[in-house]
Amino acid sequence: MKKDILRVEGLSVIFRHGGKQRVRAVSNVSFNIARGETLGLVGESGCGKSTLARAVMQLPGPASGRVFLNGADLTRMGKKELRRVRPRFQMVFQDAVSSLNPRRTILDTLTAPLKVIGIRDPGERRRRALDMLASVGIDPGRSHLRPYQFSGGQCQRIQIARALMTEPELLICDEPVSSLDVSVQAQIINLLERLRKAHGLTMLFISHDLAVVKNACDRIMVMYLGKFCEEALSERLYRVHYHPYTSALLSAVPKIDPGPRLSGGDLLSGEPPSPADPPSGCGFRTRCPRAEKKCAQKEPEFREIEPGHRLACHFPLDPGQG
Ligand SMILES: Nc1ncnc2c1ncn2[C@@H]1O[C@H](COP(=O)(O)OP(=O)(O)OP(=O)(O)O)[C@@H](O)[C@H]1O
Ligand code: SF4
Ligand SMILES: [Mg+2]
Repeated sequence: MKKDILRVEGLSVIFRHGGKQRVRAVSNVSFNIARGETLGLVGESGCGKSTLARAVMQLPGPASGRVFLNGADLTRMGKKELRRVRPRFQMVFQDAVSSLNPRRTILDTLTAPLKVIGIRDPGERRRRALDMLASVGIDPGRSHLRPYQFSGGQCQRIQIARALMTEPELLICDEPVSSLDVSVQAQIINLLERLRKAHGLTMLFISHDLAVVKNACDRIMVMYLGKFCEEALSERLYRVHYHPYTSALLSAVPKIDPGPRLSGGDLLSGEPPSPADPPSGCGFRTRCPRAEKKCAQKEPEFREIEPGHRLACHFPLDPGQG
């Protein structure tokens, strides 16, 4: 069995609005990622994907819960220790252009992490940065330029290059393609796949789009209102899913075998509830056509229903139903 690189236990993130109101943006989630695995995290805008990713990165750390990287608990580390291990886990942020420092040249952006890990020779830092730029498909001859002189897709390549400079084991990619044109999206996905193999990366891949994660991920977790509702190997989840929300997300993906469907077409009309005022019981009940009294009274437990398949629903779909 492959060893887990990342293990997250009972992680919650709470924001305080106006110093008073407590908003639980991520609520008691647990998961792991095995070495070499790509885990997808999907869900609609605002469900807590970026908040979860930042809490794993300790940017900042969670309100409660533990995050183990290779067995060491990041949430218990002091600043100095965290700085020492940070090169091992890196993140590609949601907005590529604004995540790059506009005043720095690309070369400076890429060499800075090498200073942190103690590469003292400027020539060595420069050589490594130019090699990395070439490997992500950016002309090293343009390394003296600043971010605004590159396109969105090129900025994403540069951000990926920056994240890989310290040779991390774990890479968290937060919506790496959502702001890009469809043709550029495919290029970036292919680039990440090539780099994943070349660098032996373990990845957490975040997207609101199940079509994007379909080929990129080994396993998928579906998130709604700060909690997980279903998790399975990706190849399986597309064929067999039990949660009405997973089914609704998959119905929006073109050209796949949709598996079990719900009647009533416009399932995902309306907005998700605010995490500041979540419904009682199951968070999805205000939009779920299968909701019954029990769904308002009792929160469904997120539990393993088959080996490797976890679900939180009182009245799961029958995979044979259609
Ligand atoms: N700094 C913050 N202060 C207060 N609330 C926040 C903060 N950051 C996020 N939130 C709230 O937490 C919830 C989750 O937000 P988050 O950005 O993690 O969602 P997301 O799934 O990444 O969405 P998207 O797909 O749009 O990127 C939202 O309700 C958001 O308004
Ligand atoms: S627990 Fe009830 S409301 Fe929630 S998804 Fe299942 S059937 Fe729908
Ligand atoms: Mg986000």
